Amino acid sequence: MLKQFPENGLSSEKIHDVLDSYGKYDIKNSRGRLFTYFYDPGIKELDNLQDIFLKFSNRNGMDYHAFPSTLKLENDVIAMMGSLLNGDDRTAGTFTTGGTESIILAVKAARDTFLENHNSLPEVILPVTAHPSFSKAVEYLGMREKRIPVNSEYQADISLMRKAITKSTAMIVGSAPSFPYGIIDPIKELSDIALEYKLWLHVDACVGGMILPFLKRLGKQVPEYDFKLPGVSSISIDLHKYGFTPKGSSVILYRNAVLRRHQIYVNARWPGYPMSNAGIQATKSAGPLAGSWAIMNYLGYRGYTELAGKTLTAYKRITQGIKNIGYEITGKPDATIFAFQDNVNSIFQTGVKMIEKGWYPQIQPSNIKLGLPSTVHLNISPVHVEVTDEFLSSLEDIHTNLSDDSAAGQLAIDSADKTAEYLAHMLEKHPENKTLFFHMLYQLDPGKGEEIFRKMTDRDFHASIG
Ligand SMILES: Cc1ncc(COP(=O)(O)O)c(C=O)c1O
Repeated sequence: MLKQFPENGLSSEKIHDVLDSYGKYDIKNSRGRLFTYFYDPGIKELDNLQDIFLKFSNRNGMDYHAFPSTLKLENDVIAMMGSLLNGDDRTAGTFTTGGTESIILAVKAARDTFLENHNSLPEVILPVTAHPSFSKAVEYLGMREKRIPVNSEYQADISLMRKAITKSTAMIVGSAPSFPYGIIDPIKELSDIALEYKLWLHVDACVGGMILPFLKRLGKQVPEYDFKLPGVSSISIDLHKYGFTPKGSSVILYRNAVLRRHQIYVNARWPGYPMSNAGIQATKSAGPLAGSWAIMNYLGYRGYTELAGKTLTAYKRITQGIKNIGYEITGKPDATIFAFQDNVNSIFQTGVKMIEKGWYPQIQPSNIKLGLPSTVHLNISPVHVEVTDEFLSSLEDIHTNLSDDSAAGQLAIDSADKTAEYLAHMLEKHPENKTLFFHMLYQLDPGKGEEIFRKMTDRDFHASIG
């Protein structure tokens, strides 16, 4: 039964009550408890800028002639980011809603540049650790991808990437760093390959672009990954991650405007208004853009460096503490995000227990076919310096009291050759077995795991649920 469109409006009081009740079980950002979804600078002053978001939220970035402030704001933000990542006067870019949009736009620009001189189905070559938004872009844009195994350091395997190149290769990708492990791919080598084969190299610095420059200023060794390398064509950087800006803010940068030309969509062949969109959206709120401009200008290079210093301190203490407890840090992370694994017990129990104790990490099941470990992932934010000891003692407690969850693992293995319906049914039948979902994703053929996941998503987004 569908909930009916309300005949009479609700009072604003009632609206607040209903929304508070809807939000009751949302995870809250209670100072340093989240290790994902929210990058918390831990400084109250930024709250004073929140009204800027609201002030600009109804200005429509679709038409910068009507709202010239949106153009000024965007050009300022792109210039700031270009200068941060060693661009120059030719650097061009666009403010977008997030990493996924930035990546879709870069893949489209690369595809259409490739198609100017080729007529084969364009393909993207990327390491398995690259974010799924590239696969999504490839799917949306009717292209093909080749995901290449990583080397023993969890980095793009340069010789395998090189071997995979064909006449149809339009783009190669490296991450700075990759989300799962926080490790930077060998971008210098990828840049050399891009120049040698005349390929488009995209560097995904969605999670790194707003922290690596500041870690470098603090003296941390950071391998080259930006426009300093001549083979880099485009870079994606999310401001809503380590830029601490409102959700819905990212940037796609191109070495020059010629590379960006296929990203811009124009239409003057319908009876309505002449349309020109730099990104995917047409109507777009200027709230995230103005909010980003405000926070970036408020903090400046110095403010971000200070925050990067706090983040690095927390990162060092937390990773050392995790090792002392008996876990292994996966590979050698380059920034302030990382994954850890348990070489004795399944790591899923640790992840689930962390959530039960009010800490929120990402559980990364991986897949048996990938040959990469199951891990728990943490993004470290400046606020975490305040909770390091509490967090580590909680984790130690979890580690000491791990129980045997091999039943869930065995159930997953036993079920692995059954239908998706059967597996979805098992998940529903065993809600007490909180690690079962992760065990299944690890054990199952990825296609089958995705089938279950899709069914669950389809079922959950159903208007009649209420
Ligand atoms: C490296 C990397 N690329 C792309 C994305 C996608 O960004 P978004 O969720 O903003 O679309 C993420 C998000 O975590 C990321 O870490």
